[in-house]
Amino acid sequence: MASSLSLLPLFLFSLSFLVSSSSSSSSSSSSSSSTTTPSTDVLLGNEELEGVGLELYEEFLRDEAVSRLNELGKVSDVDGYLERTFMSPASVKAASVIRQWMEDAGLRTWVDHMGNVHGRVDGMNASAPALLIGSHLDTVVDAGKFDGALGIISAISAVKVLKVINKLEMLKRPIEIIAFSDEEGVRFQSTFLGSAAISGILPASSLNISDKRGKTLKDVLHENSVEATEETLLQLKYQPHSIWGYVEVHIEQGPVLELAGLPLGVVKGIAGQTRLKGN
Ligand SMILES: *[C@@H]1O[C@H](CO)[C@@H](O)[C@H](O)[C@H]1NC(C)=O
Ligand SMILES: *[C@@H]1O[C@H](CO)[C@@H](O)[C@H](O)[C@H]1NC(C)=O
Repeated sequence: MASSLSLLPLFLFSLSFLVSSSSSSSSSSSSSSSTTTPSTDVLLGNEELEGVGLELYEEFLRDEAVSRLNELGKVSDVDGYLERTFMSPASVKAASVIRQWMEDAGLRTWVDHMGNVHGRVDGMNASAPALLIGSHLDTVVDAGKFDGALGIISAISAVKVLKVINKLEMLKRPIEIIAFSDEEGVRFQSTFLGSAAISGILPASSLNISDKRGKTLKDVLHENSVEATEETLLQLKYQPHSIWGYVEVHIEQGPVLELAGLPLGVVKGIAGQTRLKGN
């Protein structure tokens, strides 16, 4: 718990690093052609972040974020432990709670045809490539409350701070938070349904995979008022040129940082996940 608490201010720090890593667009600097960082590479200029009070770290990045982590950690399909699988009643409830928090942070929200929850603010240029931030809202069976939830909630808290200091409209590019509907693959034994759809790599045949009760992905979406077809799947794809970058805060999956007493690490590689069925 203690290490997760200290992660939240660090996340704002990293966001503000993105925000203030260049001041090439500030009025004081002339638009010299020698600058290597184009002005569109920053979210806000240095001057726009001046005077951001530390009290916001405590109120939104610590207290509110922690209370939301605890709240989401109770949204479960079973009594006694945490379990939220793709499109289960608890997942649908979690999606709606997350959507309200996104709106509270000043984001325009929608749920797409794979159950991913999106919250977006356009800033000054709606067509500039967007910074995506997010994590997954589903869980493994008997999950910890930080897995996935931390990445969603810390992103919402960081954006909320920008809203509270009236900077959302001054962003130089859109920020979009995405709470992915399925990363763990517990229900359909098929990981990343949510992000694979957004990457455009989810095959249409996935609509036919079934859970252990014999319900197909298509059936489950139908029960949630989504008529999924190959067509609707294709429409979920984000074009690479519309994305500037992706950031995700995630709980450590191993003991390395904890043993070293470090609150934060930056990953150098990402493991691919595959599920194989043996007969
Ligand atoms: C907005 O972003 C688009 C895409 O990057 C760019 O072509 C356009 O020049 C930008 N508009 C302004 C006003 O900066
Ligand atoms: C799903 O299964 C049905 C019935 O077996 C089949 O007709 C259909 O082509 C399959 N769809 C995809 C996208 O694989």
